Amino acid sequence: MALSDSDIVFQSYGRCCNKDAFFVDFYDRFMNSSDAIRDRFKNTEMKQQRHLLRNGIMQLVLHARGMPDTKLRALGDSHSRAGYAIPPQWYELWMDALMATLRQHDDQFDDSLEQAWRRAIQPGVDMIRGAY
Ligand code: HEM
Repeated sequence: MALSDSDIVFQSYGRCCNKDAFFVDFYDRFMNSSDAIRDRFKNTEMKQQRHLLRNGIMQLVLHARGMPDTKLRALGDSHSRAGYAIPPQWYELWMDALMATLRQHDDQFDDSLEQAWRRAIQPGVDMIRGAY
C-alpha cells in the first residue's frame, strides 16, 4: 500500500527533529526573511523557543494524522491579535523557511516531498493563521 502524505512527512520530520541545528537554522532563516520578524524575537529565549517549536511542528504533523485540534487552537489564540498579533501574511514566510530548512537537513528531501509537507500541514497552519 502506498504511504500517505502524513506517513512520509512523519518520517521526514523524524530525520530532522532530533537535531538542534535544524531549529537553529530554521530561526536564522525565518528571522532573516524580515527585520520586523526578527524584532518579534528580540526578547525571546531562543533555546527554549527551539524546543517549543519542535513540539509545535509535531502538533501540525499529528493534526495531519487525525489528532484533535486542541493544541493548534491554543497556538491560534496565542498568535492572534489579542496575543502576539502575528500578521497573517507572515505565515507564508514561516512555511518557506520551514521548507528550505527541511531541504537542508533531510537527505531524502525532494520536490515531491515538499509538496507532501505543504499538503499535510497547510490546514493546521491555516487554523493558527485564521485565528488572527
Ligand atoms: C511562540 C509555534 C508561526 C512568532 C510560539 C510557540 C509555539 C509556536 C509552539 C510557543 C507557545 C506559545 O507561546 O503559544 C508556531 C507555529 C507557527 C508559528 C507552529 C506556524 C504555523 C509564527 C509566526 C511568527 C511567530 C509566523 C511571526 C513572527 C512567535 C512569537 C512567539 C511564538 C513572537 C513568542 C515568543 C516568546 O515567548 O518570546 N510559536 N508559531 N510564530 N511565536 Fe510562533
